[in-house]
Amino acid sequence: MNRRERFLNACRCQPVDRPPVWVMRQAGRHLPEYLALKEKHSFHEIVQTPELALEVTMQPLRRYAMDAAILFSDILVIPEAMGQPYHFRDIGGIEMEFKLETAADIDALNADGTADRLRYVSDAIDLIKAELDGDRALIGFAGSPWTLATYMLEGGSSKNYRRCKELLYTDRPLFDRLMEKITASVIEYFQMQIDAGVDCVQIFDSWGGVLAPDVYEAGSVRWMREIVDAVKDQVPVILFSKGMHEHSDLLVSTGANVLGVTWTTSLAKVAAGLPDHIGVQGNLDPVLMNTTPELVEAATKALLDEMDNRPGHIFNLGHGIMPQAKIECMERMVDTVVAAAR
Ligand code: CP3
Repeated sequence: MNRRERFLNACRCQPVDRPPVWVMRQAGRHLPEYLALKEKHSFHEIVQTPELALEVTMQPLRRYAMDAAILFSDILVIPEAMGQPYHFRDIGGIEMEFKLETAADIDALNADGTADRLRYVSDAIDLIKAELDGDRALIGFAGSPWTLATYMLEGGSSKNYRRCKELLYTDRPLFDRLMEKITASVIEYFQMQIDAGVDCVQIFDSWGGVLAPDVYEAGSVRWMREIVDAVKDQVPVILFSKGMHEHSDLLVSTGANVLGVTWTTSLAKVAAGLPDHIGVQGNLDPVLMNTTPELVEAATKALLDEMDNRPGHIFNLGHGIMPQAKIECMERMVDTVVAAAR
């Protein structure tokens, strides 16, 4: 079984010799080679230049014996392709060039031809697939419509998601109009990624957890269900919804194959409450990677023991990796999982 097969088997809850391991987003920021490239090229330049996106996608794989790569891009390429560019604030966080204020702003968004405007992504996937040579899986991704809408309506990173929630509560037809557009764009984008050869797609519902339980379905889940429906017969779908494992019944109802779980809950307990055909991804605390290899090894072994080879466990952190992560901690985590092979 090669690494790609191990990863895909786990996505489908088929038997594997050990859990596959990969690391969730922003791996770059703790790697000197990424920071060196950032000295010469802006984030947008790297994302939009297939050769540079290839290089950054491969950087963590050269260091760590991971089973899968994640495409280097960002969830915000979708709003950008719809007509709402973004950049990073100097003090951290995201700023959109403008925020959606009126119905006319929403109607002006262009959902048609998303894939054409993101052609540089499929060009990057072609290069990455050739380099991976069938040995490791390639994960494509997009933000959930709700998560993307928070950036688009708040005008960037938000503390309370007020405007987005107000629209959901007070003007459901307009909220739905926005979500229909974003959902159509994400579906077109995923289809492009799949046609270019990604082995699996991940939906990041990063801010689903700010919704009250009674509006989680209307605000986020129903749109993700549409997306999963459109792609699930082609590739496995991983759904990461930060902090929403309590509503795993709703998440399962989307048809996703694997649920990503944050570190604040026991992965084994979440898994025990799921149907057997649903996998789980996670869930070490990312801050552990800033500590010592000894602590990381102990936590990795504890998680492996707790999961007891349940089919469909993809070993990962519970969220993105921090810039302060230490290379020796990352190495120890991956090597400990690899050594667990039977
Ligand atoms: O591992 C990878 O690098 C894969 C590519 C990837 C990035 N972003 C690159 C990136 C992926 C999968 C993402 C997903 C993403 N982007 C999400 C969903 C996942 C999650 O964390 O919940 C979200 C919410 C975003 C939006 C985003 N992009 C944020 C909030 C930030 C941090 C901004 C800050 O305060 O610095 C980014 C920036 C970003 N995206 C970086 C990378 C490598 C860091 C850019 C840099 O500092 O060089």
